[in-house]
Amino acid sequence: MCGIVGYIGTKEAYPILIKGLKRLEYRGYDSAGVAVFNGKINLYKHKGKIKELEKFVSAKDIGGTLGIGHTRWATHGEPNDTNAHPHRSMNDLFTLVHNGIIENYADLKKDLIKQGYKFNSDTDTEILVNLVEFFYTREDDIDAETAVRMALTKVVGAYGIAVLCSEEPGTLIAARKGSPLVIGIGSNEYFVASDAAPIVEYTNNVVYMNDYDVAVIKNNKFTLKNLQNNPMSLTIEQLDLNIGELDKGGFDHFMLKEIFEQPKTIEDTFRGRLNPAKSEIVLGGLLDVMPKLAAAERLIIISCGTSWHAGLIGEYLIEEYAKIPVEVEYASEFRYRKPVIRKGDIVLAISQSGETADTLAAVEMAKDAGATILGICNVTGSTLSRVTEAGVYTHAGAEIGVASTKAFSAQVTVLIMLALKLAYVKGEISDKDYKDLIEELAAIPEKLKTILDNNDHIRSIAEKYKDSVNALYLGRGYLFPVALEGALKLKEISYIHAEGYPAGEMKHGPIALIDNNLPVIVVAPQDDYYEKILSNIREVKARRGNVITIVTEGDEKLKELSDDVITIPRSHPVMTPLLTVIPLQLFSYHTALMRGCNVDQPRNLAKSVTVE
Ligand code: F6R
Repeated sequence: MCGIVGYIGTKEAYPILIKGLKRLEYRGYDSAGVAVFNGKINLYKHKGKIKELEKFVSAKDIGGTLGIGHTRWATHGEPNDTNAHPHRSMNDLFTLVHNGIIENYADLKKDLIKQGYKFNSDTDTEILVNLVEFFYTREDDIDAETAVRMALTKVVGAYGIAVLCSEEPGTLIAARKGSPLVIGIGSNEYFVASDAAPIVEYTNNVVYMNDYDVAVIKNNKFTLKNLQNNPMSLTIEQLDLNIGELDKGGFDHFMLKEIFEQPKTIEDTFRGRLNPAKSEIVLGGLLDVMPKLAAAERLIIISCGTSWHAGLIGEYLIEEYAKIPVEVEYASEFRYRKPVIRKGDIVLAISQSGETADTLAAVEMAKDAGATILGICNVTGSTLSRVTEAGVYTHAGAEIGVASTKAFSAQVTVLIMLALKLAYVKGEISDKDYKDLIEELAAIPEKLKTILDNNDHIRSIAEKYKDSVNALYLGRGYLFPVALEGALKLKEISYIHAEGYPAGEMKHGPIALIDNNLPVIVVAPQDDYYEKILSNIREVKARRGNVITIVTEGDEKLKELSDDVITIPRSHPVMTPLLTVIPLQLFSYHTALMRGCNVDQPRNLAKSVTVE
């Protein structure tokens, strides 16, 4: 949440900062700002998107080869010009951008007020920048980095910061605790950013900062220290990011592009891992822990949002095939609810970004309790990937649309492979079933293409229901989590209230909602639950609900019963989440677009929830 970018080098900083902010805009977009050093630090900030900032800055002094920028997702104080970052200290000595939350801001503010400090904004960041200035002016012979370190030792909470000091024109300082930061190393130039997106077009050499690291780039020299001023070792890594992933590639929106990418995403996820010719699944990242995993008495999956929905599918798969008991937990609950974690437990964290604060905190808690921590993660080099003992990257590529689409499909693909592999290692699946399911998974990308060909038909259904106030999504078995995911997609981007339910639960409450204004979207391919879900649909029709079904091709019975039908190719039930989620994503996309919503940047949301 919130995006930081910083530059120090020989080029003009402003164009690099603005371009970088645009690349980061998916992390937060309620206000933005830049500060560029040109003899003095020129500071410009504005409510709204980066476009607004650009308009505001035009014809102003934006020269200089050192600067920082920020795009905000508000935590303290409403989105307005004053609360936008960067923030400047009272005597103009420091300018700072910040991601995260300073939890003891009220105490720090009280102390600073006693020292004569005054504040203009409602933000915790303004307190931090003044705290840095306070230490800088209180001590003799102190440099900017020392003042930053001194201030940070007083801070409780999370931060990723980039700092300029008006008395040090050749210095850029960055520090991290809990909020990701990466340093890009170019030739006589350095970049700081909250993820690699703004850096990749300039350099592939990066250093991922760890908690309590302070990066100081001073007179073209880069050092990494801890808060106690001890040098930290520098590990330079290569970026695994393709610049093409950061563009819309001819689509109107990132979300649409990412929905259409899914045949390729799934192929990328299983490439080198799924081998139909040899009837083999190889999950390289889990090789060392496979015996432990196969012997586990239980597995706890922790995640949030869409990743939690993927986790639920994982539970159904792993219990059915590998016969290992699985619990799926919301990370935000798990971290606080004092769960029983035993030494032999295996915790599997699932996260697209690898930076979700609740997931990371839950992982730390489970680690402290002695559990083995594994991860399924999309972003290479992310915090999750560095704190887990082993794991699997989903290789979905950069997901920029705030609503997660292809990352979900990639997570489900990994979970299918994991469940089957575990079942095989444990001798719980026959060779024939193993082989058949491997072949089924390998065939999924082609089947997805035929569903994407129905885009116009799905758009016409969205047209019919776009003015609905509520929507109900139903599914059973593997498709209950898909119903949850469909409802989440619709509400987050179209702002229509939507509920996902296991179809069998409908009678226990939600049936009261049904009338002739309620669209009921039922995920109902021909599987073991078919007859059951058929009677649920009859119950909805008996109450004059509008039924939209997702059915297996050739299903005439449901066609007759439904108001609208979307077909998917026939497939094994295990694969149906991958097939049925696509029409739901497209339905949400078109509905949101017709309602005039910003599909890529829905209100109040941001990608990567790095605060609690
Ligand atoms: C929904 C969505 C969120 C994320 C959730 C977890 O479309 O994107 O619900 O799934 O914030 O994020 P990650 O997977 O990055 O941990």
